[in-house]
Amino acid sequence: MNINTNSVAVVGLQWGDEGKGKIVDLLAEAADVVVRFQGGNNAGHTLVVDGEQTVLHLVPSGALHADTTCVIGGGVVVDPGVLASELASLRARGYLVEPGSLMLSQEAHLILPYHKAIDQARERKRGKGKIGTTGRGIGPAYEDKFARIGIRAGDLLDRDGFVARLRENLAEKNAYLEAMLGEGALDFDSVLAELDESTAGLLELVADTSSWLDEATRSGSKVLFEGAQALMLDVDHGTYPFVTSSNTGTGAIATGAGIAPSLVGRVLGITKAYTTRVGSGPFPTELDNEVGESMRETGGEFGATTGRPRRCGWLDAVLLAKAVRINGVDGLTVTKIDVLTGIETLNICTGYRDPAGEPCDVPSTVAALELVEPVYEQMQGWDEDLGAAQSLDDLPRAARAYLARIEELAGVPVDVVSLGQDRSRTLVLEHPFGV
Ligand code: GDP
Ligand code: IMO
Ligand code: MG
Repeated sequence: MNINTNSVAVVGLQWGDEGKGKIVDLLAEAADVVVRFQGGNNAGHTLVVDGEQTVLHLVPSGALHADTTCVIGGGVVVDPGVLASELASLRARGYLVEPGSLMLSQEAHLILPYHKAIDQARERKRGKGKIGTTGRGIGPAYEDKFARIGIRAGDLLDRDGFVARLRENLAEKNAYLEAMLGEGALDFDSVLAELDESTAGLLELVADTSSWLDEATRSGSKVLFEGAQALMLDVDHGTYPFVTSSNTGTGAIATGAGIAPSLVGRVLGITKAYTTRVGSGPFPTELDNEVGESMRETGGEFGATTGRPRRCGWLDAVLLAKAVRINGVDGLTVTKIDVLTGIETLNICTGYRDPAGEPCDVPSTVAALELVEPVYEQMQGWDEDLGAAQSLDDLPRAARAYLARIEELAGVPVDVVSLGQDRSRTLVLEHPFGV
């Protein structure tokens, strides 16, 4: 058990959309600060409070709590237009109106119009072999960061430098768009005008969030780190190349938030009671049948960012254990167990076999992962509606047995069980902040 309960990391253990937003919103009640540390507006985090739904793409999921400061760390890639409109709609509802309630790291790289154009054009060109990206320019923005030609939020404060860099970059990107991707060139004046409009209201948010966070944590503030995407989409540990372009696990918190690794406390890993994936790539336990269809319908499995139907399948405990290991998960949150109600027999994948029928580990290439056969263990389902349960004891015996088996296979305890979309539909068995 990790004893530092001053900070908690919430990370996805599957292919995203595990319900991170819901859990961060719930835990933010006990936090002073919520920090996004990677990804961008490829994320779609859904919060439901008293029946009212809020979907956040860039603003941290602490936004609905008046006393919580939201921080967008330097590891995030930020589309200024998306941030400006998300902030405007939250402010129109009375959230994040206090100065300082949302901070944007000076080190966060900007997603610029050419990044989106390149992302979308490449996907069109790939045709059937596409990654199925969200088309939000995430990959190209991270490419520029590592190629050292990116433009960061802090650069907006030096207008002349920003304009010069933008002009230089656009010339190069236009050449690439036209020659390699067969696209039209973007017009510099229009790009600049669009950015002037979207960035005007963001300048006041730009800050040295790394120093600010260090001070906040050292003076005892409770900090919640909000992961986006999930381990199977991690650029190193996921199903490469069908992944996103950032590190999505706890390893990315220190660099992405600009804090010492020792300041990361308890790690709460989020998994659905089954598995979903949006976009292309291997998915060993996928159900291309009526059971998968019923999960999609009952679970409302349509992307919060792109609206695409999510692919659905059985819980994959092999990948879950890998994600627990790499993230150093201390405790699990299991979400959407209510969605499994009515399925007579549930399967959990507990191992893989290679094409020769031999037991195997998670292969390192997608070609080999496409070929593994999941080994399933059957568990009895339940018919009772879980919605009204107030404690673990109110759950049907079969649902409790299912959760207990997940604990065993993952090797860590289930700390939180989520039984519905609403913030209130949650059983907190062990509060990660120790409250
Ligand atoms: P995130 O990206 O990890 O924040 O997850 P998303 O918000 O993209 O997707 C999770 C979806 O499941 C959202 O529509 C949530 O409102 C919903 N959800 C979260 N937890 C539960 C749950 O326990 N039961 C049900 N039925 N829905 C849930
Ligand atoms: P949250 O935070 C689910 C997927 C895309 C695609 C791949 C690469 O809501 O869990 P990208 O646009 O990042 O280059 O796309 O990653 N993807 C997600 N899938 N949830 C997400 O975020 C995702 N963010 C990216 O569908 O397969
Ligand atoms: Mg999502």
